[in-house]
Amino acid sequence: MRIAAVVTAAGSGSRLGADVPKALVPLSGRALVAWAVVSVADACDEIVVTAPASHVAEVEAALLEVEALTGKPMLVIPGGAERQQSVSAALDVLFAPGRPIPDVVLVHDAARAFQDPAVAQAAINAVKGGADGAIPVLAIVDTLVEAPAPTGELGATVPRESLRAVQTPQVFSGQALRAAHRDQPHAAATDDAQLVRASGGRVVAVEGHEWGFKVTRPSDLPLAEHLAAQLLSKENS
Ligand code: CTP
Ligand code: MG
Repeated sequence: MRIAAVVTAAGSGSRLGADVPKALVPLSGRALVAWAVVSVADACDEIVVTAPASHVAEVEAALLEVEALTGKPMLVIPGGAERQQSVSAALDVLFAPGRPIPDVVLVHDAARAFQDPAVAQAAINAVKGGADGAIPVLAIVDTLVEAPAPTGELGATVPRESLRAVQTPQVFSGQALRAAHRDQPHAAATDDAQLVRASGGRVVAVEGHEWGFKVTRPSDLPLAEHLAAQLLSKENS
């Protein structure tokens, strides 16, 4: 069974506010995107990475070390204006005529660079078991309310027991994901599971992991740096 990974890293990281795109922010000396690739490499046969169009060469350079480390072939392509377009561009490459067609495609945010690799395996197993897709979810820890009116009046409290936060990697049957993207190019979905479900696919949940948090704001960096240092010392021991 051929498994391909798409690592989306074409965003600018405006909320992080670094002087380089988020994918290139160094953590223990390795770029965020390279850590993300390491987190999925064991699970897949090949990896397509979407980079900011202005920084394709820099992302390629940042991945050389982990390409050698993991032995998995990697291809860096320019992403699109929105995440959905970046994933579509990667699928165009993976499903190009003349290439071996992936049976399963895993889509992972570079920003979730430290996800536990066991999460990808659980999601892959669910797809091998017959689901069209499987995505990691986590229980919500905060109390939730609907957004306040301009006057400040709060909306209703939303029972958090009925909600889950969605992570990546999200894993799909390759054909289901390909068709969902092809048929809904203007859906403006914030993740791939929405597209696959909208085209009738059955997507199931697997348990996510807190290390799969999305590196978003400067306050996320100390934890990211801690996890990077821990992984690096494991790698070197
Ligand atoms: N992404 C992408 N192509 C885009 C936009 C986002 O590949 N056009 C990727 C990002 O690089 C990131 C993931 O999708 O790994 C999730 O996006 P997010 O965390 O929002 O990253 P950014 O869009 O870079 O950050 P911000 O929204 O703060 O600018
Ligand atoms: Mg964004």
